Amino acid sequence: MRAVYARVMSEWPHVRLHVVTGKGGTGKTTVAAALALALASSGQQVLLCEAEGRQGIARLFDVPPLPYEERSVALGSEGGEVHALAIDPEAALLEYLDMYYHLGRAGRALDRFGVVDFVTTIAPGLRDVLLTGKVYEAYRRRHKKDKTSVYDAIVLDAPPTGRITRFLNVNTEVAGLAKMGPIRNQADSIMDVLRSEGTAVHLVTLLEDMPVQETLDAAEELDAIGLQVGALIVNQLRMSPLDDDTRKALGDQRLAAPALVGALADAGLPGRGVAVSAEDLAEDLVTAGAEHVERLTLEAALRETVERSGRPVCTLPLLTDGVDLGAMYELAESLCAQGLA
Ligand SMILES: Nc1ncnc2c1ncn2[C@@H]1O[C@H](COP(=O)(O)OP(=O)(O)OP(=O)(O)O)[C@@H](O)[C@H]1O
Ligand SMILES: [Mg+2]
Repeated sequence: MRAVYARVMSEWPHVRLHVVTGKGGTGKTTVAAALALALASSGQQVLLCEAEGRQGIARLFDVPPLPYEERSVALGSEGGEVHALAIDPEAALLEYLDMYYHLGRAGRALDRFGVVDFVTTIAPGLRDVLLTGKVYEAYRRRHKKDKTSVYDAIVLDAPPTGRITRFLNVNTEVAGLAKMGPIRNQADSIMDVLRSEGTAVHLVTLLEDMPVQETLDAAEELDAIGLQVGALIVNQLRMSPLDDDTRKALGDQRLAAPALVGALADAGLPGRGVAVSAEDLAEDLVTAGAEHVERLTLEAALRETVERSGRPVCTLPLLTDGVDLGAMYELAESLCAQGLA
């Protein structure tokens, strides 16, 4: 694995936009936030964007729901900082109308009559145009004074793998519709950034059949439309508390329950007042142990599959005490150690 990790670090020296996707529930939001913290730990100004509007970032950083406004949510070392933004497509549309057509008050009137909501709901593609447009704006934004980038890096908690290709490629469709003019130019510019060396799409997976398959399929789809696939991030990697010999004995069904009763008694188990016999407890332990070994074997096979793809792989451990802010810093540290930030 070491050689693969080393590749991660050197692979994308120019990436400023990190898109994080994965099958639903695999840990996209958690990984995106950990990556933002990891990047901020080396002094970078990082914008963490949420595209799905479910306030997952606010919950993770334990702050009130984010308005459509960039907010500082965490500090890194060396002056680094994570700013967060929950992109709201309706607000982005009003901002867009104001910026390009100076429709400030008229735009708000449209909003009052429900037109904005109507337009963004009826045309889901438009939502994606607005979301990617906002990310593009933040990516390009520069300080007035010295023209340096406002954000050193942007991390996007993106839609799931099932929708990611369409989402990132929506501006190609727009460019196909608008043959020229400002909309065409904007769509082309966004695709230029998304297809450039400045963007990498990271895929989060669990070691389970469906997420692994979806991840590998999505990586190929992204390749096919010319987007740079970054790391495959295996999340919630199970650490076994058992040593090799015990795992092998359980796997080979050589560890019988009666042999455990003595060891349990030595450890003072099942303990006074516990309404279970030592024999039953030993039986349950052997069953749970065998299931655990079976699960590890399946995970090892899936990990092989992930690694055989030849793409850079990072892993994050399963945190058994849940994911709080402290745990996020741990995950961030792990991503740094593996060269992703
Ligand atoms: N490494 C980890 N260890 C333990 N729990 C984790 C880990 N990563 C994520 N989780 C937990 O798994 C759940 C799903 O994570 P998260 O919300 O980040 O996934 P998601 O892919 O963004 O989900 P959705 O598709 O709903 O947006 C959460 O409860 C989160 O706390
Ligand atoms: Mg999420």
